[in-house]
Amino acid sequence: MTRTVEDLLRRKGSDVLTVDENATVYEAIEIMEARRVGSIIVTSAGATVGIFTERDYLRRIVLQGRTSRTTLTSEAMTSNLITVEPNSSIPDCMALMTAHRIRHLPVTREGQLVGILSIGDIVKALLVETQAKAQHLESLISGSYPG
Ligand SMILES: NC(=O)c1ccc[n+]([C@@H]2O[C@H](COP(=O)([O-])OP(=O)(O)OC[C@H]3O[C@@H](n4cnc5c(N)ncnc54)[C@H](O)[C@@H]3O)[C@@H](O)[C@H]2O)c1
Repeated sequence: MTRTVEDLLRRKGSDVLTVDENATVYEAIEIMEARRVGSIIVTSAGATVGIFTERDYLRRIVLQGRTSRTTLTSEAMTSNLITVEPNSSIPDCMALMTAHRIRHLPVTREGQLVGILSIGDIVKALLVETQAKAQHLESLISGSYPG
């Protein structure tokens, strides 16, 4: 049963899609579309400096009348990163996402990026856990009341 972020990353994989802060937003979106993900981590000389998501595109490109071909990811990213550690629990991740209204959680260990989880990953993990608990309860009940 999935319990921590680390368990989830073991199943999902720890690959993180990144783009340099000097790349244009258009280049970032090309990568996101090619890999079918809704977020990309922004780096400067290899170090994490922010995250760029579909929502950042709406807020900082579309609504501000900018163009993705001339705007750098560093100008459109969210730099205040909310992260989790590998030993964080899945319900804690859901609580963080709800409290901060975010849909992606980069995972760091001692300041180093070691994975990323989306709201879809968390919901799926919680669903699997709930189904396993329900099955366990069902087997307990049918075991106690045979026939
Ligand atoms: N069945 C599954 O296992 C599963 C898991 C997650 C999402 N989804 C589906 O994908 C769609 C969109 O999902 P979402 O809103 O959660 O966000 P999303 O499109 O950003 O995430 C989709 C997947 O890409 C991964 N991802 C996102 N950004 C990444 C990055 N920068 N580097 C590496 N991986 C990255 C996520 O961890 C997730 O597994 C939904 O329809 C959802 O149901 C399915």
